[in-house]
Formats: sequence, structure tokens, C-alpha cells
Amino acid sequence: MTHLQDRIRIFEGDITTLAVDAIVNAANETLLGGGGVDGAIHRAAGPRLLQECRTLGSCPTGDARLTRGYDLAARFVIHTVGPVWRGGGSGEAELLGSCYRRCLAIAEEQKLHSIAFPAISTGVYGYPLESATRIALTKTRDHLSSGAALEEVVFACFGADASRTYRAVLDEVCRRWS
Ligand code: AR6
Repeated sequence: MTHLQDRIRIFEGDITTLAVDAIVNAANETLLGGGGVDGAIHRAAGPRLLQECRTLGSCPTGDARLTRGYDLAARFVIHTVGPVWRGGGSGEAELLGSCYRRCLAIAEEQKLHSIAFPAISTGVYGYPLESATRIALTKTRDHLSSGAALEEVVFACFGADASRTYRAVLDEVCRRWS
């Protein structure tokens, strides 16, 4: 059995450059594009991505939808809608956890080998980075350690601060587990 840490990779840079089976998009409920990582993914995938998104209708917060990746190196995009941070008392943690669970479940249904996540909700949606990172890594650890077929989960960190936070929380989350 491969060690858990060998299946989780922290990557510092632009998620749209990753040649994984699927990249995750931090979208909004309309699925019709936006700024931040959503804008970057739509620009890199080309206009056919928006055409497919238009056929999907909306997606509730905490859920996820699959499309093809078009001009991306990734074969698929999994669009998920993170919660807007409202101070922590509005179910934000449960909703963010649900985003990770739903994306990982779709990856298993599609028999994907690799998936890359951005730091969902931590940009314009304002979720504090460290708390969001703990949710991302805990949900991923729990998924990978319960018989998942997924071989690799990449966390794309936009900048040195984010990658430092991910590395520190990964140490903590895996230490508590082992
Ligand atoms: N690669 C990896 N990470 C990125 C990239 C990139 N190219 N660009 C930004 N990030 P955000 P949210 C990081 O605001 O908070 C959109 O308009 C960024 O540094 O993209 O979930 C949607 O349409 C941050 O850590 O997403 C929604 O309306 C993280 O990605 C809304 O923003 C998420 O920041 C969603 O807000």
C-alpha cells in the first residue's frame, strides 16, 4: 500500500497547466464563468467549455458537475461551488467539505487516476486559508485511506504563502492519522 503522503502533491503555480485527468474549478452557482481560477480555466479551455456549461443549468453550493477539458491538458473539469465566508456560523465548513467529497466521488465514478484542486473559496469568497486547507486535506486523507482508486491528488497553490500553508497543514493532518 502506497504511503498517503506519496499520493498527495503540493504544486505551486497555475492549475491550468497541469496534465492530470481532471482539474477542479472554483465556480459559482451559475457555472457560467467568473474571475480568479474560474476565469483562468475558461480562458485556457476555450469557448467550448462555456458552451457545455450552458447545458448543465446551475449547481448548488457544495455540489459539483463534470465537463470535458477541451483545450486544457486535463481531460476533464470538475466544477464545484464553494461557500461564501460569512464568519463561520452559516454552515461554511460543511459546505466546503461537501465540495471536496463530491469532487472526489465524481473522480472515483469516472475511474480517474489523478485530480488537481485549487484552494476553493479562499479567493473572492473569503474563506480563511488555513481553515480551508485543513478541510481540503482532511477530506482528501479520509477519502484516500478508505479504499479509493485515485492515485494522485494535487493541490495547486497560487503563491508561496498558500504552498507554505498547505505543506504545514499536510504534515499535521498526516501525522495525526499515522
Ligand atoms: N491556479 C491556481 N489557483 C488559482 C489560480 C490559478 N490560475 N487563480 C487563482 N487561484 P477564486 P473562490 C487561487 O477567487 O474564492 C470566481 O469569480 C486564488 O489565489 O478563484 O472560490 C467564481 O466564478 C485562491 O486561493 O475562487 C466565483 O464567483 C483560489 O484560487 C468566485 O470567484 C480561489 O480563488 C469563487 O470564489
